[in-house]
Amino acid sequence: MTKTTEDRSELEVKPRRVFLKLLTALLGAIATAAIAIPGFGYLAAAVARRKEQPWISLGPVSAFPPGETRLKVIKPSDNPLAQPWDGITAQTGVYVRYLGRDESYQDQFNVFAINCTHLGCPVEWFPQSGLFMCPCHGGVYYENGDRASGPPPRGLYLCVWKVKQDANATEPHLFIQAPFLPTLQHTLTDKG
Ligand code: FES
Repeated sequence: MTKTTEDRSELEVKPRRVFLKLLTALLGAIATAAIAIPGFGYLAAAVARRKEQPWISLGPVSAFPPGETRLKVIKPSDNPLAQPWDGITAQTGVYVRYLGRDESYQDQFNVFAINCTHLGCPVEWFPQSGLFMCPCHGGVYYENGDRASGPPPRGLYLCVWKVKQDANATEPHLFIQAPFLPTLQHTLTDKG
């Protein structure tokens, strides 16, 4: 039996229909993934934030004289959050101010993230004026980290810290949780 013209055109149209169906399914899958992946990323980041950050030593407590603010640079090799491709950008730092001992004889510190709370530039400490100043847009902070003036929306971020006697060390050391750029939603205000 010979095929009619109608049969032939039906045979030609069928593969095209299948192709279009597959193409529609593929585009649908890509669109779904494009919507879902950022959501998964957000959830994964939230879970990672909840995980305990590693602690790093800033040295013995005696290295921080009372009433002085000291910059501690954290080299990329000491930054547990550094990735091999980060290079020098993994270098960060904190400002440490020893506040002395409280009534229960416990050492007290303010450990500030170095990043300005405006857009993250590293702030600089000026002991003569007792102020932190940001070179980028003129943000100013008091020695206790409170915002003094300029565009920053709040004071400096406080890092989580603890004093611990290491098994090998002769005196207690100051530890902080590995610093990362905090956000207004996650402000590192809890003490460790
Ligand atoms: S980044 Fe510090 S004032 Fe803008």
